[in-house]
Amino acid sequence: MKKLMSGFITVAALLTLAACGNGGSSSTDSSKKGDQNQLEAIKSAGVLNVATSADFAPFEFHALIDGKDQIVGADIDLVNEIAKELGVKVNVMDLEFNAVLTALSQGKADIAVSGISATDERKQTFDFTDNYFTPEQKIVIKKDNTDALSAIDDFSGKKVGAQKGSIQEAVVQNQLADSQLVSIAKVPNLINELKQGSIDGLVLESAVADSYVAQNDDLAVADIALEASPDDSYAIALPKGSTELKDELNRILKELNDKGTINEYVQKNTDLANENAAE
Ligand code: ARG
Repeated sequence: MKKLMSGFITVAALLTLAACGNGGSSSTDSSKKGDQNQLEAIKSAGVLNVATSADFAPFEFHALIDGKDQIVGADIDLVNEIAKELGVKVNVMDLEFNAVLTALSQGKADIAVSGISATDERKQTFDFTDNYFTPEQKIVIKKDNTDALSAIDDFSGKKVGAQKGSIQEAVVQNQLADSQLVSIAKVPNLINELKQGSIDGLVLESAVADSYVAQNDDLAVADIALEASPDDSYAIALPKGSTELKDELNRILKELNDKGTINEYVQKNTDLANENAAE
């Protein structure tokens, strides 16, 4: 019994640790406090807690900069610009994509920026800003298979990967219906599975597919057109009811879009990902 009890205590202690150890944001400062709205709460906390999944070049990824591992990307540039305009610091929480929106609903993050497609389904639970990027759906394959895998039917009976919790799971199920879906949490692991041949294809969004193909000589984008949906476009996710915050983010996004800055971020970070892979 004593042994059992101490086992319980260990588990309880671990759970407490896990609950506290989330990316350094010490509490739910992010959610509404008193009669402050979300925007005011972020400003008075002096920090913008951002949930992301840094496995998605060129939008968010790890890179060695001056010998130091850092999280960079177009979304990170965007977040830094937003924080500058709000006059606050940034705290980036790197999670599995599957956990990014959960962090938002639990109040651990103020916003989620992670190449998130603003789907109708997600809109039932979260607010979204205006779209800031519109991707296409692509299938990444081994270069050697370019001829063998050049039509949707060629994937019948084949294994096709998608990131766990992403809309690409539905793309595989709906558009490559005769293939077998393999869901994996992290994009770099999917890339490795593809290189090793344990999956035959991998559905990714255009800029991301191009970036990983540029970093891996043995991979290619299949010459197959998949259907896109207006739901695919990326937007920043917010807790429901964050009207003031949403308006402010939309103002900043519009400013950056009008100047072409977001496309510049994507280009710059595509180059950065390539240079980093080459090193
Ligand atoms: N756009 C897709 C979705 O929202 C994939 C996003 C994956 N993002 C990431 N950082 N891994 O489902």
